[in-house]
Parts: sequence; C-alpha cells; structure tokens
Amino acid sequence: MEVNAISVKDLCVDYGNQIALSNINLEITEGIYLSILGPNGSGKSTFLKTLIGLNREYTGKIEIYGKPISKIDPSIIGYVPQIKTLDKSFPAKAIELVLSGINHTWSIKSNKEAKSKAYSMMESLNSLEFADKRLSELSGGQLQKVYLARSLVRNPKILLLDEPATGVDFVCETNLNKIIGDYTKNNTITVLMVTHDWTSAFHHSSHILFLNRHQIFYGDKTNAFTDENLKLTFSHFADKHNVSFIMQKQ
Ligand SMILES: Nc1ncnc2c1ncn2[C@@H]1O[C@H](COP(=O)(O)OP(=O)(O)O)[C@@H](O)[C@H]1O
Ligand SMILES: [Mg+2]
Repeated sequence: MEVNAISVKDLCVDYGNQIALSNINLEITEGIYLSILGPNGSGKSTFLKTLIGLNREYTGKIEIYGKPISKIDPSIIGYVPQIKTLDKSFPAKAIELVLSGINHTWSIKSNKEAKSKAYSMMESLNSLEFADKRLSELSGGQLQKVYLARSLVRNPKILLLDEPATGVDFVCETNLNKIIGDYTKNNTITVLMVTHDWTSAFHHSSHILFLNRHQIFYGDKTNAFTDENLKLTFSHFADKHNVSFIMQKQ
C-alpha cells in the first residue's frame, strides 16, 4: 500500500519584498527519490526549509505523514543544508555533531552504543580520519559529510539534501548516490535532493520537481525532461541543452 510521506497544498512563501514560492501542490509517496531542479533564486532552498518548519513565512498546508509540522517527531527527518549555510564556528568536534543527531542534545556523556554508532556511520562515509577534528578545521566537503552522517545516524524516514555536491571538493554525486543506495537497501527512506546535475537526477531519482518560484512540473522522471519544461524552468538557457544527451549518458 502506498503511504503518503509529504503532502503540500497551495503552498506560498512571501518574504515581504518578494514571493519566493506560489501555488505548490505535491503528494510525495514514501520511498520516492525526488530531485528538485531550478535556476538560482527559484525557491528550492526555501521549499526544503519550509517543509521542515525552518520558515514560518508561508500560507497553505503541509503535512508530514499526515500530521502538521509542529506535531511530528523531528528525528524522522534528516536535513543537510546548502554548504554556504553550514556553520563552522560552533566549538565542537565532528563526532560530537554526529552524536547530536542521535542524542538530540549536546550532551558530552554519550553512551557507548551511541558513540560506536556515530563512529561507524563516519567510517561508512569514509570520514573517520576527521572524526575527532574540530569543525573549524574541516573543509566544506568534510563538513558536509559530517552533516550527512548526522542526518543518517538517526535513521530518518525522510532525507532532505540541499545541493549536496555543489562546490564540494570530494563529495561527488556518484558517491552520494552510492551512500543513499546502500542506505535504502535496509531502510525505507524518502529522499528530496536539490541538485544542478540533470544527468545524475535523471539516472538516480524516481521523480523530478522543476521549480521556478512556481511548480513547473512534478512527476515521474520519464515525463520530466521535455523541451517545454526546461524552457519554462530555465527560460533562455533551455535552447542550449540537449535533452537526449541526459538520457543517453551513463
Ligand atoms: N530569509 C529570507 N528573507 C528574504 N528573502 C529570502 C530569504 N531566503 C531566501 N530569500 C529570497 O527568496 C528567493 C528564493 O531563494 P532560495 O530559496 O534560496 O532559492 P534557491 O535555493 O532556488 O537558489 C531568492 O530571491 C532569495 O533572495
Ligand atoms: Mg538554494
């Protein structure tokens, strides 16, 4: 039976000086892997933040597993923010940030089980070498891996990733998709990923959302990459893109 993980009705986000999103309507079934594509400033980050209650400036209705955001257990959601918003200044070690994903607090006294879970998650993301380093010593890519470890260690039902491979030294999308693939072997997870990599989106996700402040397309990936959708989403860039290339590569 299909379970509805996320339901969005008539979502609008008005920041006062501008409308970042209008009339977004989606039903996201549990287990799908949704790639979100759109130009800069098209509301992609706003969409993810609004879904998990980080942005109150909205109208419309959002439900996660049938409940309003304020009523859900936050541990069911893992969120990896866009790299420019990651905070390096927090005086903690990488492993402590990962542990905070399990404990939901900054308690130093983590039990042995939680610690070994956190270390093994870092190991599976090839991050053990910087587990005991301070956040301020890490590169952007390393920090992003720490946030990813923090998100996954809590066994989320929903994983939100905001441009996880943009401007990052070594977290390439192929690695990331392998990590997600391995994780989904043993867990049912719904993934929403903002990306600029159309080819990767086509090959790894099941569904596509094209955003340009409003919803251009939402549905199965096989119907997504039409000239019309690309033109509406990316306007003047669309002519330059050869859609058949996306589908043939890999
Ligand atoms: N907190 C905010 N207050 C005011 N305007 C914002 C805020 N966050 C984003 N915006 C604006 O909303 C628009 C969409 O931003 P964003 O969701 O970050 O786009 P994207 O992630 O697609 O690049 C942009 O024009 C941005 O400047
Ligand atoms: Mg963004």
